[in-house]
Amino acid sequence: MALRNIVLEGDPILYKKCRKVEKFDESLSTLIDDMLETMKNSNGVGLAAPQIGILKRVVVINVGDGNIELVNPTIIAFSGEQREGEGCLSCPGQYGVTLRPKFVKVKAQDRFGNEVVYQGQMLKARAFCHEIDHLDGILFKSRIVK
Ligand code: NI
Repeated sequence: MALRNIVLEGDPILYKKCRKVEKFDESLSTLIDDMLETMKNSNGVGLAAPQIGILKRVVVINVGDGNIELVNPTIIAFSGEQREGEGCLSCPGQYGVTLRPKFVKVKAQDRFGNEVVYQGQMLKARAFCHEIDHLDGILFKSRIVK
């Protein structure tokens, strides 16, 4: 495992759409392990592959109840609304209140290609939305509401 450098706001890679993962091989496992280590080292609750310069649809999340790995994630259900403060490891020191669903259900694959389903409320729901946005080149700052 290795720490990767986090790409900062302004780098063109953060505004691109990521490619679907087709190969569930050793290099995908290494990528996910490195992302988990990098997220933990930065005290983040989530990290998306483009944030370490990789344009693949891979996300890791840990809101304090264990690591979640999402490959090719899609939001399959959501409900409610929340307006809470949000930040991003790619935008150090910047925070803003975003409008997100209160509950989110996500379908994805694990590192072996098996289908997985997760759901979460409040912080976990925000993390799902925030990180999946990264895969489509969207930063939380464009979701800030007043
Ligand atoms: Ni972020």
